[in-house]
Amino acid sequence: MRTRVNNYHIPVLVNEIVHYLQVKEGNKYIDATLGGGGHTRAILDKGGIVLGIDQDQDAIEYTKKELGKIYKDKLIIEKGNFSQMKKIAQKNNFIPQGILFDLGVSSYQIDNPDRGFSFNKDATLDMRMDKSSDFNALDIVNRYQYQDLVRILQKFGEEHLAGPIASDIVTKRKTAEITTTSQLSEIVFDVYRKHGQKVKHNQSTKVFQAIRMEVNSELNNLKFGLEQAIDLLSKDGRLAVLSYHSLEDRIIKLNIKNKKLKIITRKPVLPSEQEIKTNPRSRSAKLRVAQKL
Ligand SMILES: C[S@@+](CC[C@H](N)C(=O)[O-])C[C@H]1O[C@@H](n2cnc3c(N)ncnc32)[C@H](O)[C@@H]1O
Repeated sequence: MRTRVNNYHIPVLVNEIVHYLQVKEGNKYIDATLGGGGHTRAILDKGGIVLGIDQDQDAIEYTKKELGKIYKDKLIIEKGNFSQMKKIAQKNNFIPQGILFDLGVSSYQIDNPDRGFSFNKDATLDMRMDKSSDFNALDIVNRYQYQDLVRILQKFGEEHLAGPIASDIVTKRKTAEITTTSQLSEIVFDVYRKHGQKVKHNQSTKVFQAIRMEVNSELNNLKFGLEQAIDLLSKDGRLAVLSYHSLEDRIIKLNIKNKKLKIITRKPVLPSEQEIKTNPRSRSAKLRVAQKL
C-alpha cells in the first residue's frame, strides 16, 4: 500500500503497522494519537473500524473534515487524552482488537507558528498539544525554579549544558519575561558560544523537546495510556507503539514485558532508508508490538 501524503502529517511505517495490527474487515481498532489520520485511514481502507483519539482540537477538526464523510459509521472521533482511554472506549462500547500509539507531535503542530513549538518559527512560547490546558511553555520558562529547569533539561533533553542554560534563563527573566521561541533559542545559542562550542542551527532542539515533554506530561500520560491499552485489548489483540525518544522507548519496553502480553517484535522495527529519505522526520522512529494473551 502506498503511503498517502497529506499536508498535516506524513504517517510513519504505515504498511508495517497495518501488517502487525493484523487489520481485518469488521475488527475494531483504537488509534490513540489520531493526528492527521494517516494511520487511521490505512486501517479503515483495510476494512477496520476505528475509534480515533487526540487531545488536539485542530487534529479532531482536520480528520472530521477529511475522513468523517468518507468513512461515516466506521470511524468514531473523540477529543481526549489517551491517559483516559478506558473511559473513552467504555463510553463508545468499544472493545478493540488492536491499539496504536504514534507518540510525540505532528508536523502540523511543529510547523504551525501559532502553536509555539518550534525554534524554526518565531512565535509566542506555548507547546500545548491540548489548547484548553492552562499550563504552557511560558509557565515553565518563566516560573520554574532553577533546579527544576535543570532536571527537565537533563532528563528529557539529555542537554549537557542544562545547568548553564537554566542559569541564563533565570538571569534573563529577572529583567523581562521570556516570551518567544526566538528568545529561548538565543539563550541556548549564547550559552553554547560562551562555552566555546560551535552553534548549529538546530542547537536548541533538545531544550525545546524537554520543555514540550514537560508541558504535555508526555511520559506520565504514556504510562497511564499503556496500562489502560493493555487492559482494554481483547484476547489476541495487538498493541503497536511508535516512539521517537529513548525515554519513551524505555517505558514501552518495560510495560510490554507484562504477563498479560506476548512480545511480537523482539527488536524494534525501524523505517527503511527509503522512508527516511522521503520523510526525514521518521528517522528516529521505533515500532514495538505485543499481543494480548
Ligand atoms: C505523531 S502525531 C500522530 C500522527 C498520526 N499517526 C497521523 O498519521 O497523522 C501525534 C498526535 O498524538 C497526539 N497526542 C500526543 N499525546 C497525546 C495524548 N496523551 N492523548 C491524546 N493525543 C495525544 C498529538 O496531539 C498529535 O496529534
